[in-house]
Amino acid sequence: MTSKTSTSTSTTPADTQTDTHDTRDTHTTPAGTNIDNLLHETRRFAPSDEFRATAVATEELYERASGDRPAFWGEQSKTLLHWHTPFTRTLDWSNPPFAKWFDDGTLNVAYNCLDRHVKAGNGDRIALNWEGEPGDSRSFTYSELTAEVKKAANVLISLGIGQGDRVAIYLPMIPEALISMLAVARIGAVHSVVFGGFSAESLRARIDDASAKLVITADGGWRKGKVSPLKPAVDAALALPGTNTATGTGDTTPGTHTVTNVLVVKRGNNPVDWNPDLDLWWHDELANANPEHEAQPFPAENPLFILYTSGTTGKPKGILHTSGGYLTQAAFTHKNVFDLHPETDVYWSTADVGWITGHTYVVYGPLANGATQVIYEGTPDVPHPGRWWEIIEKYKVSILYAAPTAIRTFMKLGRQIPDAFDLTSLRLLGSVGEPINPEAWVWYRDVIGGGTTPIVDTWWQTETGAIMISALPGVTTLKPGSAQVPLPGLDIQVLDDQGNPVPKNSGGLLVVAEPWPSMLRGIWGDPDRFVETYYSQFPGRYFAGDGARLDRDGDIWLLGRVDDVMNVSGHRLSTAEIESSLVSHPRVAEAAVVGASDETTGQAVVAFVIVRASQEGDLVQEIDVLSAELRVHVATQIGAIARPRQVFIVAELPKTRSGKIMRRLLRDLAEGREIGDTTTLADTQVMNIISGSIAR
Ligand code: WTA
Repeated sequence: MTSKTSTSTSTTPADTQTDTHDTRDTHTTPAGTNIDNLLHETRRFAPSDEFRATAVATEELYERASGDRPAFWGEQSKTLLHWHTPFTRTLDWSNPPFAKWFDDGTLNVAYNCLDRHVKAGNGDRIALNWEGEPGDSRSFTYSELTAEVKKAANVLISLGIGQGDRVAIYLPMIPEALISMLAVARIGAVHSVVFGGFSAESLRARIDDASAKLVITADGGWRKGKVSPLKPAVDAALALPGTNTATGTGDTTPGTHTVTNVLVVKRGNNPVDWNPDLDLWWHDELANANPEHEAQPFPAENPLFILYTSGTTGKPKGILHTSGGYLTQAAFTHKNVFDLHPETDVYWSTADVGWITGHTYVVYGPLANGATQVIYEGTPDVPHPGRWWEIIEKYKVSILYAAPTAIRTFMKLGRQIPDAFDLTSLRLLGSVGEPINPEAWVWYRDVIGGGTTPIVDTWWQTETGAIMISALPGVTTLKPGSAQVPLPGLDIQVLDDQGNPVPKNSGGLLVVAEPWPSMLRGIWGDPDRFVETYYSQFPGRYFAGDGARLDRDGDIWLLGRVDDVMNVSGHRLSTAEIESSLVSHPRVAEAAVVGASDETTGQAVVAFVIVRASQEGDLVQEIDVLSAELRVHVATQIGAIARPRQVFIVAELPKTRSGKIMRRLLRDLAEGREIGDTTTLADTQVMNIISGSIAR
């Protein structure tokens, strides 16, 4: 069914672009699945009568959304959220692409996620069942979570944080991560969560870009059976020379930064250095905090968070989201796509809060909807490979939202592992982050979902804020491998290079043709880059950076990125960022990075490196040592997720006459495919030289 070699001759976005675009070959999806084979996938799964009988979303939702889309969202917002001052306007698109939604309304995001459920009599409902990696656990009812967030909000205020101030959060998956985010939101400040796997350098760049005043971290968190330290990385980050030239002080003196305090949660009990001028223990501060805090309303367009994501340049983009529109679509999608029945469901998204999925589908969507959820601190295989299934059995999880990479890993380990647990509580499964190949889809449904659960394959991005393309369970007949249909209220199209919608049975570029409530409001500190990245390709329409194909029914199949962004285990990485990390190593002269198909992780980072002539030394013997060293170098500089699977030391890189690296050819090599058309190379022999050095 799957094949690594593409022999297709059909037109895809990659075919129609020149080498100066150097887009990925979209014949093969990142997981190495041939798209033309995929489109012959004929298995169909209609919703069962039983599921349909209680389904939250019905056909009627599409009808209601089919007229005036902004009005539809206004209706949803009023139903799903509590507005302190109701809005009278829905969408303001008078200054595209800078959208405003519901902008004369006021609300408090944290109040919507907490206090109002308590007021409605649901204070005793469990909001959070937290499971630590070593097996400890904690639960919070909505009343308890509200009480914690109120205290944390008062701590933030006492530390001088107010509306609009930025707070960096660098925490493991512990309840304090959610409490911190909600406390920041409650006082109208802006959080910037930095994934705990990112390095001190990456953390510092994000602190500087947003001029963060406060960092909330932990001594360490449990990962892979041991404590992974975090506070030492914060110390190291703050001791580095500054990186800020755009929005901050511009001061690059080592140790000079915008941070006035570091609030430290005790989790790992690992030893940490203490700077009494900056550092405060979370537990001390919360113990002394005033438990009363009344949530104040803020304008709908008040910034809620910045989340950095990789783009096509070396510098991550600070994606900015605001309050009212974001929370509307977060709540709407969480309720309708996951068929949430908050009184009875137990929902679990396995995402870390360091990623957008953790923001929208661990924090804001589920809590706005009053859901009961599970969060887990650690890795899926600790202390045993059945850990996820054990957690599902323990908490009777009914809705599971996970990434295809994880599913493919479990598939490889074999069904005997999940079969040993009672998974009958599951009634809906979700997938996110990358295309899910039909074999993994069917395995997920059969083995994890007992052959009965619907699967929602949800396409969206950090920038879109919430799910955009997905089946609606109870309505849509499911097609394994396809994300299928735009959600009600959205205008999503597949266009050719000229900007015309492609007919059924053909491919092109994915765009969102009209503004939507949870869309990014910009890139922090860089409005020009926002316009240039997303709105210059097709003016007025949002360019997602993904290739897509419509099948003969008009259903959408995602084909992966068409830019220099890779998707490794559902995480976005920039080729340029890894290349610039490699060339910062003293022995590297030039580097080219590609995302090569990988059976488990979707794509894997493969680097081709030219070593500096003066330092070549006895390269043949040293090659293995050097490539291992370069892999570690990237992991230290960016984070372990960016560590290349392979680093090849080569004598040349394939370049066009204008000097642009032809990554397409390197991808052919990395994927073990026959090398494609080399006629536009400045030196057509170069691929032989490179193949020779790799074989060596
Ligand atoms: C990819 C993650 C296929 C896509 C929520 C997108 C997907 C990028 C899917 C965004 C899916 C996400 N099928 N591809 N269901 N979901 N992607 O910002 O390439 O981390 O552009 O957001 O992931 O990644 P991000």
